[in-house]
Amino acid sequence: MNSNQLKQLLSNMTIEEKIGQMVQLAGEFYKEEDSENTGPMHEMNLSAGKMATIGSVLGISGAQTLIAIQKEHLAKSRLGIPLLFMADVIHGYRTIFPISLGMACAWDPNLIEESAAIAAKEAAVSGLHVTFAPMVDLVRDARWGRVMESTGEDPYLNQLYARAFVKGYQGKNLATDKFSIAACIKHFAGYGAPVAGREYNTVELSERTLRDMYLPAYQAGIDEGSKLVMTAFNSLDGVPATANKRLMRDILRKEFGFEGVLISDWAAVGEMIPHGIAENLKEAGKLAIEAGVDIEMMTGAYLNYLNELIDEGEIAETLIDEAVWRVLTLKNDLGLFEDPYRGANSAEEKAIVFSQEHREKARGMAEESMVLLKNKEQILPLSIHQKVALIVPEGQAKDVLGAWSWKGQQNESVSLYEGLLQHIPKESIVLKTIADAQKEIKADWLADLADVDIIVAVVGESSYMSGEGASRSNIKLPSEQIQLIKKLRTLDKPIVATLFNGRPLDLTDIIQDVDSILEAWFPGTEAGSAVANLLYGKKNPSGKLTMSFPRAVGQVPLYYNQDNTGRPLTALNQEDKFLSRYLDVDNSPLFPFGYGLSYTYFKYSPMEVTLTRSPKSQEDEVRIEVMITNSGKLAGTEVVQLYIRDKVGKVVRPIKELKRFKKVSLEPSESTIVAFNLNKLDFEYTHQDLSVSVESGEFDLMIGPNSEELEINTVYLTFKKSE
Ligand code: IFM
Repeated sequence: MNSNQLKQLLSNMTIEEKIGQMVQLAGEFYKEEDSENTGPMHEMNLSAGKMATIGSVLGISGAQTLIAIQKEHLAKSRLGIPLLFMADVIHGYRTIFPISLGMACAWDPNLIEESAAIAAKEAAVSGLHVTFAPMVDLVRDARWGRVMESTGEDPYLNQLYARAFVKGYQGKNLATDKFSIAACIKHFAGYGAPVAGREYNTVELSERTLRDMYLPAYQAGIDEGSKLVMTAFNSLDGVPATANKRLMRDILRKEFGFEGVLISDWAAVGEMIPHGIAENLKEAGKLAIEAGVDIEMMTGAYLNYLNELIDEGEIAETLIDEAVWRVLTLKNDLGLFEDPYRGANSAEEKAIVFSQEHREKARGMAEESMVLLKNKEQILPLSIHQKVALIVPEGQAKDVLGAWSWKGQQNESVSLYEGLLQHIPKESIVLKTIADAQKEIKADWLADLADVDIIVAVVGESSYMSGEGASRSNIKLPSEQIQLIKKLRTLDKPIVATLFNGRPLDLTDIIQDVDSILEAWFPGTEAGSAVANLLYGKKNPSGKLTMSFPRAVGQVPLYYNQDNTGRPLTALNQEDKFLSRYLDVDNSPLFPFGYGLSYTYFKYSPMEVTLTRSPKSQEDEVRIEVMITNSGKLAGTEVVQLYIRDKVGKVVRPIKELKRFKKVSLEPSESTIVAFNLNKLDFEYTHQDLSVSVESGEFDLMIGPNSEELEINTVYLTFKKSE
């Protein structure tokens, strides 16, 4: 449709038809089995007449099902307005990729884009039009269960990943590319910072921190063209995001220029009542529409009260028109008026979904995402001549997909046992479960392990333990796993801990008892193949953490880009008490942001820094070069990281900020020069009056393999004063 036709359509709609477009229902209203419910169900007060006006449905898929629902809907809709089908396609549709926190550890936006394009293709042929992804909330608190869905604690990386996800999902042209789906940046804003890591809790952030740390990823996704944005559940500065005019109208719409659809999270409009800013659903609906929420998900505030609010003169009908226009525009951008079935195609669904090609990509992505945290005396890689004891938590052999993998099937994913069998015969594996160990440890369970050469223990979390609604105050391993590791230690055999989990864990209880630790996250469909390829050195680990691992839960929120205090702990004042420190634990993380080992070694030359003056702006620019050499015996990949520190600002500045990185692959003895260029924009920050600029002065430039092992070079940079 051209825009005149679309305008005509809008003007032909009754007020009930318009309101229907602003309502999203769960799949359960259309089909009972197999729909994904991700929130509470409330009484929606639906009549058949209202059903015919509804604009979108969530959490249901399958080409045949959605074609049938669409057909039936079109037959009932007076103006023939097609439904939009949306769902949470987060880290894959049916071919499941690693959880986002894992994918982020690959430090490779291209791989993220590729995984998103595959997820989009599978979802599109299954009839979906929109994914509620990517979640780009910056996270600093490992107690929060949804850190698994984020790309981590760094605003620069998160921006790159936000763009990559959006590009991957949306492709080049939503109208013509039937294998693409629309993206939805979420959760605007600050959902990743709930107080004490408790799900749905209040968020307290200064606007400066919000702007410098949290907003950049949302903005990047929007700049990349994300068609939708979802509101967050939390309040920010005392106002729930879904009613927050300052956030939605001033920042999202005016400042970021977002013209797409703003959708509430599930029941978030109704939750204004328990939040205590609305007396009833009608008032909540008023606040949401005034804040500019176009589609309401699942509480009936719009469906049942918008009409009344207009009749009573409480809201202007123009607010409704504005929202419906955006919804119709999205449908039009997806080409739904020309082809309401779009990509839905049963034959293609059969051929494309969970194809061998997609599984291969998922395996590759999983291999890139894993992080080798410890490898004492090069216990890894394993040799195919070793006899291995594989110990797995009972019932969790295939619990490898992680939360938010709705269509993923555990039974068609690869367990680690199956992965090991790709390298060694079953006679070389003694398979045991952790539950057995608890029951039988006294009955000499350990005796069965007498002749193994090495122990591979799978530990971590079940997928139930992270994701939405899965905050934890204790982020240690389950106690039976800790006890088992201690018992295994008595055998005096090397132990490799393979972690499957959705958040940074406190590993202090086992760190001394195990020889190697491979952080596998929830690796997805091809988990076992990918982990085994790393364990046997078919692939050299190269992942690096994008979220710090604490030494104790009491350290969290813990993040590398923290501000300095007036009494910092340094190498020189370790004995002092009256410092910003703990009495019982070091300030540093157990494993820092950016950290990850390889089976080979990389040597960094001293960095070379060149300052130049931009002829145009007459301001300093910096070039930093470093030579990286693979000094080990195996080919490998290194992520070279560049950080800065503004030594004196107008407000307190972070002690480190990632500004660039480069992933380089080198053969043994091979060297390469890595060069980075920075200019004024890379040094700017938000001031107390919310203006953005930077002053001339000293800056540390830091290069290294992670956020702690850094060579520092201090330079004086001259920038012009901002007007
Ligand atoms: O997309 C999700 C959101 O992230 C959390 N609440 C439910 C939504 C729809 O399933």
